[in-house]
Amino acid sequence: MNRRDDVNKRKADHIQICLNDDVNGRGMTTGFEKFSFIHQALPEVDFAEINVETSFLKKKVATPFLISSMTGGTEKAMTINQNLAIAAEEKGWSFAVGSGRAAVEDPERAYTFRIRKYAPSIPIIANVGAVQLNYGFGVDECKKIVDLVEADALVLHLNSLQELIQPEGNTNFRGLFQKIEELCKSFHLPIGVKEVGWGINSKLARRLVDVGISFIDVAGAGGTNWSQVEKLRSTDPLKRAVADAISGLGIPTSECLLDLKQNEGSGTIIASGGLNNGVEAAKAIALGADLAGFGRSILAEAVTSEKALIERFTQTEYELKAAMFSIGAASINKLKNTPSIKQVGY
Ligand SMILES: Cc1cc2nc3c(=O)[nH]c(=O)nc-3n(C[C@H](O)[C@H](O)[C@H](O)COP(=O)(O)O)c2cc1C
Repeated sequence: MNRRDDVNKRKADHIQICLNDDVNGRGMTTGFEKFSFIHQALPEVDFAEINVETSFLKKKVATPFLISSMTGGTEKAMTINQNLAIAAEEKGWSFAVGSGRAAVEDPERAYTFRIRKYAPSIPIIANVGAVQLNYGFGVDECKKIVDLVEADALVLHLNSLQELIQPEGNTNFRGLFQKIEELCKSFHLPIGVKEVGWGINSKLARRLVDVGISFIDVAGAGGTNWSQVEKLRSTDPLKRAVADAISGLGIPTSECLLDLKQNEGSGTIIASGGLNNGVEAAKAIALGADLAGFGRSILAEAVTSEKALIERFTQTEYELKAAMFSIGAASINKLKNTPSIKQVGY
């Protein structure tokens, strides 16, 4: 199999496995079920006036929702990205596309990332694995990726445990912090950092922000578990066994948020990893996030049609507003600073 077939197969496998298989971490949850809002029977708010607008990357957006980085590089990925872009523009979601590595390595794939024409006004974020900075990628390659996407920012993903189990994974993560710092110094757009489902702790977030990272997407545990996804692609019995053993690792999404809240100074915070609906997004914001990101839970609609996505996005916004109505919070700022959330049992 040549490199192009290889990448095609990997992208297709990821989508199929995420749509059809159980890829949750063993015994792992986001922890949002341990938090509840303290309902206010008299909210003193007109539901019609609840406003969920916010701003991100210097743009005003109608919602605090983000499509987490998913795909690009293949024909099917193009359809998914197009559906996502149209729905995001329509409903005011920010949109992070999947890794642009394939497009740099094979310019014939570039068209699958040209989605700005479908989403002229919203923040769009380009994506690449930070580890690629140890495998030949530098400022020029990152610039190619953001130019292609006509992005407002670049997000670097940290995915050590995915690369470890991935049959073709890149596992040299040595010296990356310094390379991220150097990239921040010379890059012309804001750079963020995200995990892919194991979470980011406050100490690392702080260090990254101190060297110029603009936003942190915690991408915590409790949702898609990428060692499980890669296990299902692997035929190596050793890697499969290790994937099972590590499937409970990672910091649950809600714990990442509490950690960041208790140790302020982390710039813009995106909560993602296992989010399924607008009430969970509301909890994430009440625990300190600025935005809430959705990955695998919207993939089925993304594969189906822009219409299915628009319906799902409408529902998610309604759910968020319902949670805000329950506690009498009429704006995202009020929700973020609400005292009306408690840990169940405390
Ligand atoms: C099909 C699929 C492909 C993904 N590809 C990427 C990618 O290219 N780059 C990236 O940073 N994350 C990628 N992710 C990870 C998500 O952005 C997210 O961090 C992770 O799945 C956890 O969120 P979730 O539980 O909402 O899915 C992908 C996720 C899915 C479901």
